[in-house]
Amino acid sequence: MSSTEQTLSIIKPDAVERNLVEKIKEIFKKNNLVIKDSKKIQISKEEAADFYKVHQSKPFYDQLCTYLSSGPIVVMILQGENAVILNRELMGATNPKEAKENTIRKLYGISIDKNSVHGSDSNSNAKKEIDFFFKH
Ligand code: CMP
Repeated sequence: MSSTEQTLSIIKPDAVERNLVEKIKEIFKKNNLVIKDSKKIQISKEEAADFYKVHQSKPFYDQLCTYLSSGPIVVMILQGENAVILNRELMGATNPKEAKENTIRKLYGISIDKNSVHGSDSNSNAKKEIDFFFKH
């Protein structure tokens, strides 16, 4: 069954720095995702730690939070049919080396850390992540 959903997308510092924002937005738009809201911000390490708290027990947590707060990011609300899964398909696997051809991470990702984009992994996390950036 299909339904209109919203999901959160982040264009990470590596992609903002390389001027890939418009190219990545085009991929979403071409694939029927509407960008309902978008803003360029820079967050503190504490905010990154709060955003990624589901990963706090992981060995890469500290590095992940340092990285997300290292430069400007673009946060967006994407809307469309099955937006959560569609966005994840468009992003490709977390590790760019394992991502399929023509996915954002295959095209632009540099490493598992600098993998250019983040996307919510479920509807419930999408709601939390949208609230985190847009309802504060
Ligand atoms: P993201 O989808 O933003 O969610 C958590 C991030 O942790 C992930 O993308 C990766 O960029 C980063 N990360 C770093 N190391 C790992 C790892 N070993 N496994 C999974 N994610 C990792």
